[in-house]
Amino acid sequence: MQLLSDRILNMATSATLAMAAKARELRGEGKDIIGLSLGEPDFNTPDFIKEAAIQAINDDYNSYTPVDGYVELKEAIITKFKRDNGLTYTLPQIVVSTGAKQCLANIAAVMLNTGDEVLLPCPYWVSYADIVKLNDGVPVEVKTSIDTDFKMTATQLEAAITPKTKMIWFSSPCNPSGSIYSKEELRALADVLVKHPNIYVVSDEIYEHINYVGGHASMAQFEDMYDRTITVNGVSKAFAMTGWRVGYIGAPEKIARACNKMQGQITSGTNCIAQRAVITALNESPSRVQYMIDEFKVRRDLILDLLNDIEGFKTNTPEGAFYVFPNVTHFFGKTLRGKTINNATAFSLYLLEEALVATVTGEAFGNPDCIRISYAASQEQIIEAIKRIKEAVS
Ligand SMILES: Cc1ncc(COP(=O)(O)O)c(C=O)c1O
Repeated sequence: MQLLSDRILNMATSATLAMAAKARELRGEGKDIIGLSLGEPDFNTPDFIKEAAIQAINDDYNSYTPVDGYVELKEAIITKFKRDNGLTYTLPQIVVSTGAKQCLANIAAVMLNTGDEVLLPCPYWVSYADIVKLNDGVPVEVKTSIDTDFKMTATQLEAAITPKTKMIWFSSPCNPSGSIYSKEELRALADVLVKHPNIYVVSDEIYEHINYVGGHASMAQFEDMYDRTITVNGVSKAFAMTGWRVGYIGAPEKIARACNKMQGQITSGTNCIAQRAVITALNESPSRVQYMIDEFKVRRDLILDLLNDIEGFKTNTPEGAFYVFPNVTHFFGKTLRGKTINNATAFSLYLLEEALVATVTGEAFGNPDCIRISYAASQEQIIEAIKRIKEAVS
């Protein structure tokens, strides 16, 4: 009998983590690798949040928490949804989990049956497809291109829907493209979806605050979509709290209760100290973390300027998140320093080996024409990395 399940054997390793591991290996060999592959702010968690965690330890918060999170935290989330998004949720509609990643895993586990199709506008976040597959769903890629700023149009959505379509998952601001759907663009998608009342939407808004154009829009803001939208959010990105592992959903009550039930059997409530700290984070105005967003914007402008100076990198202007997603098809079929570049994976590997810069192949995000470069790194690192890339491809 085979040792490991088909389930795990059929699962892809997270490409972003795989690239980080490869970069670590090369660093271990003494190579000076600049890591632009991970989706992780390079800031420290703000002091006012750290102090809340220290206070929680001193106040002896050490027991199991309610599976779906402390009531005070769920209240802070309700306040946040109202204040920042104009969304009204009640306590049973909120579930706090071990990162937005677990929120997504819960949703897939409680909503998908074998063969249910999940529409994924490409490029999509690296884990969506595997989470769906793990739960016997079928990821259906909806191709977009740089020409539509990597956003799915209503016509593309309509064409992708089949009788098996159960859900659509997308992030806005988008990881990896940085694109943001405006309220009008979301409304155009909603106009298609209202004709298909059985389709649910997972609106992943984890990069909400990392927005350089202002005006974050949520699918659940539309009255006719509220009852079938699951809003996913978390503190990893805007509050520089990736390791604290807190994410949350606002959802139709039936779905939230099912996620609570699922979580109760597999992980229980997330870390108690982190939950106490997040109460403080969410009750504060988002303006407390604006300094990080301002710095990300400076870096975005910097990296765009530098990349636009290299022949063969075609970029859009990302409006949020902290990634650029250049189309690099110009290099396909070319031989650089004796290595033939046939696709984005080969190109990304070439940059790692020859420029000592870690990026991620777009293939992992459902777009094999592009690579993802994270600019959650210092300006000096960005300048040095792009200089090396320029040399390696010239
Ligand atoms: C679009 C998107 N959704 C969800 C997550 C998961 O975030 P968390 O750290 O809260 O699990 C990430 C992290 O990279 C992400 O980029």
